[in-house]
This record gives sequence, C-alpha cells and structure tokens, in this order.
Amino acid sequence: MAFSVVVLAAGKGTRMKSSLPKVLHPVGGVPMVQRIINTVESLDATAVNLVYGHGADQLQSAVEGRQVNWCLQKEQLGTGHAVMQAVDYIADDEDVMILVGDAPLIRAETLERLIAVKAKCDLALLTVHLDDPTGMGRIIRKDDNIVAIVEHKDATEAQRAITEINTGMMVMGGKDLKRWLVALTNENAQGEYYLTDVIAMAASEGKRIQSAHPDSPMEVEGVNNRVQLARLERTLQSWQAEALMTAGVTLADPTRVDVRGHLTTGQDVFVDVNCVFIGNVSVGDNVVIGPNCVLQDCEIASGAVIEANSIIESASVGEDCTVGPYARLRPGAVMERKSKVGNFVEMKKATLGEGAKANHLTYLGDAVIGANSNIGAGTITCNYDGVNKSKTLIGESAFIGSNSALVAPVEIGAGATVAAGSIVTSNVPDNHLAVARSKQRNIAGWTRPTKKA
Ligand code: UD1
Ligand code: CA
Repeated sequence: MAFSVVVLAAGKGTRMKSSLPKVLHPVGGVPMVQRIINTVESLDATAVNLVYGHGADQLQSAVEGRQVNWCLQKEQLGTGHAVMQAVDYIADDEDVMILVGDAPLIRAETLERLIAVKAKCDLALLTVHLDDPTGMGRIIRKDDNIVAIVEHKDATEAQRAITEINTGMMVMGGKDLKRWLVALTNENAQGEYYLTDVIAMAASEGKRIQSAHPDSPMEVEGVNNRVQLARLERTLQSWQAEALMTAGVTLADPTRVDVRGHLTTGQDVFVDVNCVFIGNVSVGDNVVIGPNCVLQDCEIASGAVIEANSIIESASVGEDCTVGPYARLRPGAVMERKSKVGNFVEMKKATLGEGAKANHLTYLGDAVIGANSNIGAGTITCNYDGVNKSKTLIGESAFIGSNSALVAPVEIGAGATVAAGSIVTSNVPDNHLAVARSKQRNIAGWTRPTKKA
C-alpha cells in the first residue's frame, strides 16, 4: 500500500540551550532532520510532510532542494496536534508513517519492517524494551494485544513498571488517522493533544494493533540535550566504523575515526588514528592514511599515501601519489598520478603533473605544473598582487631551485631551470636557465664586530 510520511519536528528543544533548532543539530555531520529525510527517501513514500515550528528559515535552508511539504505548527500543543497540521496532505486511501524529528539513527530496514507489519494489521507501532523507561509512553497490552499507550506523567505505578515503550514511530491508514485526530482531547497531565491516544481509539474500534522492533534501541533514541547528542554521535560513528571494516578497511582504532558525511572506500585501505572524513570522500584501493588527517570532499585514487597531519579539502589526489606529512591541499588542488607533495606544502587551484614533486615548504596557487618537474624547497608562486590573482605555468621537466619566487603571471618553459633564490618576473623559455638573484661578493679579510663595552 502507498504511504506518506509525517515527520514531527516542531518541538523547541529547550534543553539543547541553542539558537539552532534542535533537529538541525548535526549527527555524523548531517542535521538530524535531514538524516531522517534521507532515510525516508530510500523508502518509497509518496510524500514527506514536515511539521515544523521553530527556526523556520534555518530549517528551510537546511532541507533546501528536498521534496517536502511544510506544515507549520504555530503553537506546540502536543504530538497529536502536530500531526493535525499535516492533515491536508494525508490521503484517505494511503497509509501514514509518523516519525519523530529528533531520533536520527532510525534505519530504513527498521521502517521497512514496520511497514511490513502494517500490511498485516490496522496499526503498526515501533516499540522497544528499555532498562530505564522513565519519561516514555508505556505500551499497555491485554492478553498480549496492544490496547493503549499511557504517557509517563499519566501512568500509574503499575504502568510505570512496564518496560515496553512507544518510540513515537507508527503506521496507520490515512482515513483512520484523520478520524481519530478529530476525536483527541487535551485532558491529561500535560494538557496536550497526545497522538498516542489514537491507540486506545483504534483498540476500542476492534482494530488490530501490532508492534515491530528496531535491532538496536539506539535507533529510536531521541535527542533532548547535548549529552544525548554526543551519545548518538558516538553510536553512529561506531556503526560507520564497523561498516568500513566490513567493507575491507583496516582502522587502527575504530573509536578514533569520524565520518561526517559519506565515505566510500576501496579494498585494503588503512586509516590510522584520529582521521576525520567530512562531506563526500572517496578513497581507492590500497590507500594508506596516516594519523590526524582531515579529508573533506575529496578523491584519493588507489595506492596513494597520505602521511600524518595532512589536510585535504575539495582536491583530488591521483594514483600512487604521496602527500605530507603536514601537507595542505586546498580547493582545486589536483595531483596527477605519482606526483608528490611533502611537508609544509600548500596547494590551491593548482595542478601538479604526473610524477612532479614539491617536497618541502612550498606554496603553489593558481598554477599548472608539468609532468616530472621538480619544485625546490621554499618555492612560492606569487599569485596575488593584493587585488587580482594571476597564473603560473610551468612546463614539463622543469627544475625550480630552492627559495624561488615566481611572480605571476609568468611561464616557465619545459626543461627550463630556475636558479635557487631567484625572483622570476618574466617568462623563461624552454630549456633555458634563469638566474634572477643578486650576484655574490666575497670580501677578503673581514673582521667581525666586537662586543661594545
Ligand atoms: C513522545 C510520546 C511518547 C514516546 C516519546 C518517544 C506522545 C504524547 N508521547 O513523548 O509516548 O515514548 O515521544 O520519544 O506522543 N512535537 C511536535 N509538536 C508538538 C510536540 C512534539 O512537533 O507539539 C515533536 C517533537 O519535536 C519531537 C516529537 O514530536 O520530535 C516528540 O515530542 P516530545 O515532546 O519529545 O514527546 P515526548 O514527550 O518525549
Ligand atoms: Ca522526546
């Protein structure tokens, strides 16, 4: 049966003590609500209805480009009231899956299981047993059949002893839901319209109510404060680390790697401790990544070695390249195969040709460096005159001596040599030597100054 989704995300999240709406706090680098929408998009929902209240502008820009119906809940009068805000988008002949915006670790497989249960009954509830169910809605069963949910604040002592709780996620028919929503009241301990009251209504109509369960209770754990946020973050990171290892990656320490986004890996990748992967990163076969590296939105081809403490952002590293230690590849840096960048080398909008090397203390910006060229220690492409950026072009097999400044725009020909310490301000033809430094004088019999009394 076709189904639409309602995501409840209007709560203030006061306990986060934040100017950011709670559901926009990231888990694994992705705002919680976006993570849930991503999960839902992998299912086959006809529509996603997002009930929001606080931080509308921030929320809309975070979820930009997604097919979402925006349902404003001006006042937060309870979860039932929240679902009412989406009622115009709910079709009678479709199922409705209700999700909570602050439980970001829910897995698609679990939601599929919930849908499968609904296919065999009238209302499917995702429930879980918790060692400490304090604060949660309790699942009331009679002869094993679910007959109601009672909120913690409304529960008797005996009901509070029940450890099976409502996760807030459920599926039911659109027509049923709409009929039950109209009948909700706010006569309870919190003066709220509880969505959970529909369960007793369903039971009293003789509807069949069944439960499904997540594999891990962490999937349904909500975030109310930053302590819980951190716990969910660690949980997600441990799941991701396991998935990487299962896919053929060796992690020096699975508790010391963070993936904040999407990391795809080849086989036999080794990742040392304290590496952080941000955004979309792809890493080919046999890549070795040393400790303390940060890789963001980049591609690392097979056989590359990224040495310790290197930072790579929006760059591409070719096959069998070596980077670092202590290298920084900024946006637009492209290393072609077998090229090499060593310690304290920074690249930005620059291409290092096949087999070319810049091994020490160098800045390459707005530059194209031909294959097999050697860039000596301390070389600077002077790409900025304070107003405009200009390009440096270096041909194949050029040799740039140490401590040279290449003042752009400038071209160094193929096979050309630049003497160490040169300040190159005009083009160097192919195979020429450019010497652009002051001439050495040797002064004979030099007496060193003595210390003044
Ligand atoms: C709710 C359930 C409880 C369940 C728990 C699971 C009800 C009455 N209770 O309780 O049975 O065990 O979730 O976490 O449903 N929201 C709105 N508008 C509102 C109120 C809430 O959008 O007016 C959203 C919140 O942003 C949140 C979700 O609904 O994403 C749950 O709200 P919350 O206040 O956390 O409900 P609980 O009291 O925890
Ligand atoms: Ca909650």
